[in-house]
Amino acid sequence: MPSETSQPPAPPARLFARLNPGVTLERNAAGGLSACFDGRTVAFGKFGADVTARAADFATGVTFGEDSDGELNELVRRLALYGLLEYRLARAPSGPDLIVIEPQMRDYAPQMAEIDEDRALALSRFAYIRRRGADMVLESPRACALFRLCDPSVTAMIAHLSEARTVKELRVSADFPGVELLSLLLDSEILFTPGPGADKALRAAEGDDDLVLWDFHDLLFHSRSTNGRHGNPSGGIYAHAHLAALPPAVRPSWPGPAIDLTTFDTAPPSAFATLLRRRCSTRAFDERRPITLAEVAQLLGGAARIISRERAPDEDQDEPELEVAARPYPSGGASYELELYLAVDRCEGLARGFYHYDASRHALVLIETNEHWLTAMLEDAQFAMGAPGVPQVLITMAARFGRVSWKYSGFAYALVLKHVGVLMQTLYLMATEMEIGACAVGVGDIELFAKMTGLAFHVEGSVGQIAIGRGVQSNSTPIAD
Ligand SMILES: Cc1cc2nc3c(=O)[nH]c(=O)nc-3n(C[C@H](O)[C@H](O)[C@H](O)COP(=O)(O)O)c2cc1C
Repeated sequence: MPSETSQPPAPPARLFARLNPGVTLERNAAGGLSACFDGRTVAFGKFGADVTARAADFATGVTFGEDSDGELNELVRRLALYGLLEYRLARAPSGPDLIVIEPQMRDYAPQMAEIDEDRALALSRFAYIRRRGADMVLESPRACALFRLCDPSVTAMIAHLSEARTVKELRVSADFPGVELLSLLLDSEILFTPGPGADKALRAAEGDDDLVLWDFHDLLFHSRSTNGRHGNPSGGIYAHAHLAALPPAVRPSWPGPAIDLTTFDTAPPSAFATLLRRRCSTRAFDERRPITLAEVAQLLGGAARIISRERAPDEDQDEPELEVAARPYPSGGASYELELYLAVDRCEGLARGFYHYDASRHALVLIETNEHWLTAMLEDAQFAMGAPGVPQVLITMAARFGRVSWKYSGFAYALVLKHVGVLMQTLYLMATEMEIGACAVGVGDIELFAKMTGLAFHVEGSVGQIAIGRGVQSNSTPIAD
C-alpha cells in the first residue's frame, strides 16, 4: 500500500494544448493563421484578434478544456484534426510537465471527468510502459492516446494499480500525482473500474466477452501493425535502411553437396503449375469494362463459399464441441473466422456501395455506410497500390477473432494472419483462372472499417485486403508497397 503523508495538497493539474515539435503557427498574408510542418503549409482561415494574438502561446501551450472561447477551441480542434497537437498536464502554465499526451487517433481529445473518491481503479492488462528514445511512454492498444511520463511520481502511482484501489486510497500516497491524471487515464481505458465481485486476476472484469479472449501481445500486434489506431511511422519508408544493408534477394548457398533437381523435374508443367506461373498482381483497372456481378459471384463462390457445415470433433474426443463451416481453403482448427466485405466502386450489375458476403447463403448484403468512408477506403487502397485509379472492387477480410482465440492461446492472431495469406492466394488463383486482375493490399485502416460497420476493432476487424477488377494490360506495373 502507498505510505501516508501530511504534506499540503498540490494545486490541481491542468491541460495545455501545444504544437508538436517541428510545427509552427503563424499569421499569414491573408490575415489568417497557417501551420507549417514537414515542409507543408496549411491555412486554417481567419480568427478574431484575440485568438490570432495567442498563436505564439501554442508553442508552450494554451489552456485546454477550461476556456469558453469558442474560436480558440475551434482552432484547437482544427489543429488536432491534422495531428499537430499534443497536450501537457502541468500544475502551472510554465511548471514542469507531469505527462504529455500524444493523440494516436485524429478524433481524440482528452477528457477529464470528475471521479468519485470511492471509485476503484486498476491498470488495464493491455497497458505497458516502455522506453522510446529518451522518453518513458505509457500506452495501450485500447487507448486513443499515448502518455509520455515526465515525472517519476506518475510511474510510481501506476505501479500501485496492479490491484484495484480507490481514489481515496491512492490519494494518501506521498507520490500521488493528482486525480486529474487518473481521470485522463480512465478516459483512455488505460485504467478501468472492475465490476463488483471481480476476482484478483481481473481479466474477466475488463471490457466485454470479446476482450476476455485477447492475449496482450495479440491485441497490441493487431493495433500496431495496421493503420487507424496509432500515430507511428509506417509503410515502405526505409526508416532504418541506413543502419543495415538489405539481405540479398537469393540466399547464399550452403556449402554442402547439392542434388540437382532439374534432372528429375522433367514432366511438363501441370495445368495448376501453369496457373501458379500466370498469377501476377494487377494494379490498373479498365474503367470502360468493369468487372461484372456474375464474375464477382463466381470468384466468391469458388474461393470462399461455405461448402459444408458440421460439428467437430467427433463425439468420442474429449474436447469442447465446435460448429465448423468449411470453405474451399484450409483454416487452422477449422476456425474459418474470416468474413469478406466488398467496397464496390464499379461493377456491372451491382451498385456502388459496401457489402458483406454471406458465405452461407452465397449472397451479398448491402451495409448502409457513409459515402466519404467508402471513398476513403477505396482511395487508401489506390494509394497503397500506387495505382492510377481506385480499384473496381476492394475485398476486406475481417476476422471474427473469437472463433480462433476461444480455442487457441499465444498464437491466435498469428493464425489469423496465416489464414489471410491462405485466402489471399486462393482469391489470387481463382481470379487468375477467371482472367480477372487482383492485387493484395498490405495494410488497411482498422478504425475506418470499424466506423463503416459499427463493429469494435477487437470484435470483428479488418486484417487483410485484396483489390479486384478487369485489369488493363501493362508490362511495367510498379512494385508500390
Ligand atoms: C501480403 C501482401 C501484401 C501486399 N501489399 C501490396 C500493397 O500494399 N501494394 C501493392 O501494390 N502490392 C502489394 N502486394 C503485391 C506484391 O507487391 C506482389 O505480389 C509482388 O510484387 C510480386 O508480384 P506479383 O504478385 O505480380 O507476382 C502485396 C502482396 C502480398 C502477398
